[in-house]
Amino acid sequence: MGMTDDRSPLTRAAALCDRLGLRRPILLAPMAGACPPSLSIAVAGAGGMGAAGVLMLAPDAIAAWMRDFRAGSDGPAQLNLWVPDPPPSRDPDGERRVRDFLGGWGPAVAADAGDATPPDFAAQCEAVLDAAPAAVSSIMGVFPAPFVAQLKAHGIAWFAVATMVGEAIAARDAGADVIVAQGSEAGGHRGAFDPALAERRLVGTFALVPAVADAVDLPVVATGGIADGRGVAAALALGASAVQVGTAFLRCPEAQLPPAWAQALAGARPEDTLLTRAFSGRPGRSLATRYATAAAAPDAPAPAPYPVQRGLTAAMRAQAQKDGDLDRMQAWAGQSAALAPALPAADLVDRLWRDARLLLGSA
Ligand SMILES: Cc1cc2nc3c(=O)[nH]c(=O)nc-3n(C[C@H](O)[C@H](O)[C@H](O)COP(=O)(O)O)c2cc1C
Repeated sequence: MGMTDDRSPLTRAAALCDRLGLRRPILLAPMAGACPPSLSIAVAGAGGMGAAGVLMLAPDAIAAWMRDFRAGSDGPAQLNLWVPDPPPSRDPDGERRVRDFLGGWGPAVAADAGDATPPDFAAQCEAVLDAAPAAVSSIMGVFPAPFVAQLKAHGIAWFAVATMVGEAIAARDAGADVIVAQGSEAGGHRGAFDPALAERRLVGTFALVPAVADAVDLPVVATGGIADGRGVAAALALGASAVQVGTAFLRCPEAQLPPAWAQALAGARPEDTLLTRAFSGRPGRSLATRYATAAAAPDAPAPAPYPVQRGLTAAMRAQAQKDGDLDRMQAWAGQSAALAPALPAADLVDRLWRDARLLLGSA
């Protein structure tokens, strides 16, 4: 059992800010495909932390992201990597059914589309170390021990995403410096270590944050559904030292989101999002678009495992992006999407922190 931290929320937040070189306990969430350097430059410029989800980036693209970020900011940033699963077992008949289904939504799917694999993990780890960010975050598991040792030798903090208390304890035992407690409200992929449990162990941010703070004697960063000052204040009161915000930054001009996706966020109620494996094979929370809804129907073929499904949907996703067609786009969204303001990111950071401080009684 960890110790209950009875410091005041603002004292706890200030301690983590000091350690990470932040002026505000507000972190941009890593969002693969939706975190151009411009967004991180704006967030870091306002005293928060920038972030990139580098899952799909080759080593030279990781280096280029960091170069572009540093050209605009001397603030801190986090690079995020997925811990790879063992190669999935393949089911040619199941994949054929998915290919046929997807052919009704986008271009015909090539027979080898499911063979696509993400860039080599070991090479990405090297590139991330070379880029020397303030923090490297893991999702979908814990980092291998040799990589953890290298992070520590380089003075880089390891932020470990956990969706359950047991995962937070496993990450602490593996050497994590900070736990990012990701509630099931979160937009994008769920970080559950075991894909088979990802939909069956849904814990919301309100229950997860205090449970992790009590169980693990490490700073906790709350993420999932936090999109305004109320959410920031609540997360800090629940035991977090900082918040990590994803969806609420997506309508900022610096995010450069496809307009159809940005507009749909503004009108989305919490119940207008769903958890789906239909884009990548790993569950993620997206807008309940026509494709995501149809793929969940009882007669739709079961998605292939990650990363096969990601390869199978690549053509549809690319076409949707080109056409600005929300119904076929991979339009991730958290349950608080409607709170996302169309504001410059620095103004959003200012507003989140000003409103949270008012609620916490220290304006
Ligand atoms: C568009 C998008 C892409 C995401 N990509 C990643 C990713 O690459 N790695 C990761 O750890 N989390 C990813 N996430 C999850 C976020 O890091 C974070 O947990 C989530 O956005 C928090 O919930 P919120 O969207 O309600 O703020 C993504 C989320 C979104 C919305």
